[in-house]
Amino acid sequence: MKAHSRPVATKAGGVYLRGMNPPAAPILIFDSGIGGLSVLAKIRDALPQSPIVYSADYAGLPYGEKSEIEVATRVCAFLGRLSERYRPRLVVIACNTASTIALAHARAVLGVPIVGTVPAIKPASEQTTSGVIGLLGTKATIRQAYVDRLEAAHAVGKTLLRHAAPALVAAAEAKLRGEDPNPDIFAEAINGLASQPDGERLDRIILGCTHFPLVEAELRVAAKAAGLSGRLGFVDGSDGIARRVANLTDGQLWPDAPSDGIFITTGPVEQIEPYRPALAGYNLTQIMSL
Ligand code: DGL
Repeated sequence: MKAHSRPVATKAGGVYLRGMNPPAAPILIFDSGIGGLSVLAKIRDALPQSPIVYSADYAGLPYGEKSEIEVATRVCAFLGRLSERYRPRLVVIACNTASTIALAHARAVLGVPIVGTVPAIKPASEQTTSGVIGLLGTKATIRQAYVDRLEAAHAVGKTLLRHAAPALVAAAEAKLRGEDPNPDIFAEAINGLASQPDGERLDRIILGCTHFPLVEAELRVAAKAAGLSGRLGFVDGSDGIARRVANLTDGQLWPDAPSDGIFITTGPVEQIEPYRPALAGYNLTQIMSL
């Protein structure tokens, strides 16, 4: 039996247990832009009734080009303000750059459980048969010691090729605004891995930035054109994150029915206008500025 067992009346007349999150407490999902939607989709599949606040630090996008100190400061400040405002039951940092740099900092300053998103080196290592894995990420992510540690822990005896593909962030953003990104961007990203020594033996590519699963179909076409074999697979961490979120919130109270989510931006709200149709597809219909 958990410590919190005293019933508390809710405004709606129901009761929940003291110390437990009220049913309306949201899951707060955070990214620099729309990349975290690839994670949100899986969380919604696992927990359809969960209230969602999705926050995008558009005033700071792209994180991948920033220094470690800039990213850590922005993430902690932004999450602090959002947590105060929305009292989330749990925060998901749906950004590999922010997580590999600032997960420990954010956990140290926020009194709320935080699930991070880091490159899926472990599952890719378990799945590869050729022993050669590629990692596509932002410039900042692929240089992180966190990634070195994941490689040392989970990719022993495997070859991990890394390539920074910042143009894919802008391409995913453009796609969600309804634009057609230039196909050369996807070819460049794939060739950045395939042209490295052993690159022709790649059979798993880790999408180590949450923006990249949003352009997986385009990357698949580029991989085929680059002659990478039919056994190539793309791997990202979103399924594992959704399982972890479901696990950490197991037994908590939820609203009776799914509801539309809130989308918060640090930039001007007008900037989000072209994204509205795509966001509606993720049930994010209330758009506001922080
Ligand atoms: N979506 C972010 C990630 O997973 C990166 C985008 C950016 O550069 O801001 O790394």
